Amino acid sequence: MSVSVCFVCLGNICRSPTAEGVFRHLVGEAGLDGTIEIDSAGTAAYHVGESPDPRSTATAARRGIVLEGAARKFVARDFARFDYVVAMDRKNRDDLRRLAPDAEACARISLLRDHDPSSPAESDVPDPYYGGAKGFEEVVDLCERACAALLATIRERHGIGG
Ligand code: 4NP
Repeated sequence: MSVSVCFVCLGNICRSPTAEGVFRHLVGEAGLDGTIEIDSAGTAAYHVGESPDPRSTATAARRGIVLEGAARKFVARDFARFDYVVAMDRKNRDDLRRLAPDAEACARISLLRDHDPSSPAESDVPDPYYGGAKGFEEVVDLCERACAALLATIRERHGIGG
């Protein structure tokens, strides 16, 4: 695969599996399955091995998006695997920067919403874990907009799919 993307949040059970599922869905719709490696991880280990949160899975399912995978922690050697390390909020981004082995790896870290031209710079995807259903809907909304923009950027930069 020519390009690899890893979405990163805190627990890897709500926001980053949602971004992963939304992005995978968009890549499939574009007929680009197999051209982009897609994964997600968390900066914390609290939920390692768990499936995505059922509230995230149900919210995504209502939009035809499948969430899958088991939570894992993002580790320093992941920087050697991924071209795009996409953080859900500034805290995750700052934690990733501290973990990055060098400036080149650091430069591959971005904030998800910074890919969305309709979002103000440095916007977070708010953590929905302790809140209500609206927060989970908002996560999917934000991921849909930003992931569409990220895919367009990657296609253009890497000359994928014409
Ligand atoms: P996520 O959400 O980072 O979007 O997966 C959270 C999941 C678990 C916790 C916090 C946020 N937690 O504190 O256990």
